[in-house]
Amino acid sequence: MILFKNIGQLVTVGGRKPKTGLEMKELNIINDAYLIVENEQISDFGRKSKEFDESDFEKIIDVEGKVMMPGFVDPHTHFVFAGDRSQEFKMRLKGIPYIDILKKGGGILSTVKATRKSSKRKLYDLSQKRVEKFLSYGVTTVEGKSGYGLDKKTEIKQLEVMKEINEKENIDIISTFMGAHAVPKNYKNNSSGYIDYLIEEVMPEVSKKKLAEFCDVFCDEGAFSYQESKKILKAAKELGFKLKIHADEIKNTKASQLAGKLNAVSAEHLLKASDKGLTSLKENNVIAVLLPLTAFSLQEKYADARKMIEMKIPVALATDLNPGSSYSQSIPLLLSLAVMYMNMSPEEAISALTINAACALDKGDDIGSIEKGKRADLLVIDAPHYNHLFYNFGVNLVEKVFKNGNLVLDNNLTKRKI
Ligand code: NIG
Ligand code: FE
Repeated sequence: MILFKNIGQLVTVGGRKPKTGLEMKELNIINDAYLIVENEQISDFGRKSKEFDESDFEKIIDVEGKVMMPGFVDPHTHFVFAGDRSQEFKMRLKGIPYIDILKKGGGILSTVKATRKSSKRKLYDLSQKRVEKFLSYGVTTVEGKSGYGLDKKTEIKQLEVMKEINEKENIDIISTFMGAHAVPKNYKNNSSGYIDYLIEEVMPEVSKKKLAEFCDVFCDEGAFSYQESKKILKAAKELGFKLKIHADEIKNTKASQLAGKLNAVSAEHLLKASDKGLTSLKENNVIAVLLPLTAFSLQEKYADARKMIEMKIPVALATDLNPGSSYSQSIPLLLSLAVMYMNMSPEEAISALTINAACALDKGDDIGSIEKGKRADLLVIDAPHYNHLFYNFGVNLVEKVFKNGNLVLDNNLTKRKI
């Protein structure tokens, strides 16, 4: 048994279901708290009222009056890739649109080239480094998508890298198959041929090897149409995948309506979603995963988080780490953008990056809040109040990360070692 004592502010967040509306503001805080971990799970927590017999515990951790909260969950990333697109970034700064670069064979297709060429070992090393950085920002569960292979071999290589990282590293990886990320060059002007290839040859293999829990499609202009996305996602559902959709990011293609219609677990981006699309999300309990770092990087208007929260759509946040539209895994910047430019309150932003993010991965029963029986994925924040995560903007305040109750990262120690 492990006892965490002297917790200044225990931000439990609370609950197992997605928070909506006013619930997103409730963080269920306990001041002057303790927390007990047993068998890698949270077994008890509360206000420091009773004295403990400290000899009952294998380990006692003094939180020194700081904040303790659940580990962050990042429910949307593309962290397994090779190569870089810094030249494209410069083109975008000059005003060339992201989608035009893709249409000319760059963008996603340029990362596909580099990822196909990369050995599995190299891809592992690149991805593992990114995962370590996530952990240093307090992310204890991260979703990752394939989609830089666009052929069976490379899609599986990406998913196998995620599986190995999940087994070896101190972070949980939830894998998503995203073969429908772009139409590869050898199927140019033959997207229906590519879709048949995905459905007949790639998806059954991914499913048989149990390499992905979710299937995602880039349903947008320059990628896959409404009808094409529907065909792929319906086939995915039959194979047992849960669904996600990159929806209405560049243009409104009614992808949000499709997410509702197919009962997707989540719809992502939603920069251009219509009221009808949002109503469909609401009516079908689809989680809206918003990606402020992408809007920032593409210099686009941010998703209308306020409207969604008022409509009682559960809102989650994610980094969308990828080499094109969001080459950042900065949780501090993400939180700042959410409160400064999306008008979310600090409390809403925290709910969005913990319990609602966990629910966007269908893991609300296991992670994303401090509840008895949940996994002890916990953070110590070097501050007396969670407000500092926003007030001290752009600064990583995560001091310690505990995974299943074990200390896996201490940013103080790292600094002292040097
Ligand atoms: O979420 N929109 C499609 N996919 C990614 C970008 C991937 C890339 O540009 O490499 C996104 O923005
Ligand atoms: Fe994405």
